[in-house]
Amino acid sequence: MELFSTEVLVIGSGVAGLMAAERLSLEKNVTIITKSTLGKSNSKLAQGGIAAAMTVEDSWTNHFFDTIRAGVFHNNEELTELLVKKGPMQVRHLINLGVQFDKSSDGEYKRCQEGAHSIPRIFHAGGDATGKEIIHTLIHRIKKRCTILEDHMAIDFLMDEGKCTGVKVLNQNGEIIIVKAAYTILATGGAGQLYPVTSNDSAITGDGLAMAYRAGAKLTDLEFMQFHPTMYAGISDRSFLISEAVRGEGGTLITSSGSRLMEGKHEQCDLAPRDIVARAIQDENSQVYLDISTILQFEDRFPTIALQCQKHGVDLGERMIPVKPGAHFLMGGVMTDQFGRTSLDGLFALGEVAHTGVHGANRLASNSLLEGIVFAYEAAEWILHHHRNVPTSEIKEQETRLKEPSVSTSELKNVMAQYVGMKRTSAGLDFAIKLLQPDMMNEVSKLDFQSLERANMGLVSWLMATSAYLRKESRGAHYRADFPLQLQEWKQKRILRRIHQDDWVKSQKRSRTILY
Ligand code: SIN
Repeated sequence: MELFSTEVLVIGSGVAGLMAAERLSLEKNVTIITKSTLGKSNSKLAQGGIAAAMTVEDSWTNHFFDTIRAGVFHNNEELTELLVKKGPMQVRHLINLGVQFDKSSDGEYKRCQEGAHSIPRIFHAGGDATGKEIIHTLIHRIKKRCTILEDHMAIDFLMDEGKCTGVKVLNQNGEIIIVKAAYTILATGGAGQLYPVTSNDSAITGDGLAMAYRAGAKLTDLEFMQFHPTMYAGISDRSFLISEAVRGEGGTLITSSGSRLMEGKHEQCDLAPRDIVARAIQDENSQVYLDISTILQFEDRFPTIALQCQKHGVDLGERMIPVKPGAHFLMGGVMTDQFGRTSLDGLFALGEVAHTGVHGANRLASNSLLEGIVFAYEAAEWILHHHRNVPTSEIKEQETRLKEPSVSTSELKNVMAQYVGMKRTSAGLDFAIKLLQPDMMNEVSKLDFQSLERANMGLVSWLMATSAYLRKESRGAHYRADFPLQLQEWKQKRILRRIHQDDWVKSQKRSRTILY
């Protein structure tokens, strides 16, 4: 068994992990492990951009309200406030690191509109390749400063009297490596691959959530899986995302008979919160199309989507793209505070694997890259101010007993779509829980990446089904056909009162500082 020590260990290489590594590696010895290649992540696929209130017409309070309204008042108010207030500074920071956001011909940064935003405030790069631009910039900066272990998959955390002291890792040759770390940052993303139709990268199988659960960390809100309304709905199973920015630029949802799907369903029509649009598409009996006929130069504005359409044989000349909803973003995760600290000493969680509570029951578009960068920076600063030595104690042999689901991976995904998908019932969830519960699983006999992923997928599916069963109400992305109403613990009144006390006028002035 190989032994390795590092001051900070980052598991995963999306925006949150890389951003933390970028800051920390200026002063600390940082190691990044990824089960695939550096940067392969949901962040890299992100077409939407980063939301930040940075103009005189906008304010942090507007952004705050949009976030809370989309989140159906289930958000952590303090951290949401922190997110939207610190957002502009972090966007500025990205620009300083070299990220090239799109500008218009007058040299001003372009700001786009997306669902449930009251004002255009989304910064994009490369038209629809914002994530890729940020990831490339960060990789360029950290490559020579960090130790990078690609094709290395974390199995479980090393725990010593309740403290996380590193991680047990598997490499492609089946060898185990023990990585000791003063601090460990989990940044493995969400769990979109638990569903048959998803916008997520193939690597996003819920690994970090499963590891955290096995180690005894607190997880929460796993019932809130956001379904993006517009994934390409071709004949093959392979799908891809059609950004909400397409609707922001004037794209509309049309039924097979040619009528506007969202008319009369919500005041924001095609740009209503995602859960509402996604359910409207699911409830429609005919195929729904995204009509792009009003978008001039679609191929220039959305080059990534245009390329994908071409690959899948979609004739953009027809100006109609068939769409369907797909699993997109998990609002729940490993509970953290402002600094990304989890309930386990020494373990941090950042990005989609974490639950900061800023997304509530339904994430506002383009708030996820923002969450990644804002909280990564907070965590990095905390770590830099709290030096800890790499543990020297002997590693106690920690047995890993993993169980694989008794169903195939495609069966598991179908069960999740059917019973833990966009509409849930007690009976369906009960069926899913029984099928997926760890008692029904088989011990993993040979430890390799695939069996480890399957064990993680089984465990996280069961946790999500159980969480969905326990929430006997409908809120945001979690819809129970048998409990269609929200519970009385509706938070709106409390939030409105707090904002009033906050002195509206002062906050408006404060937030109108121009940051670039
Ligand atoms: C999109 O481009 O529609 C996705 C952006 C996001 O989920 O924030």
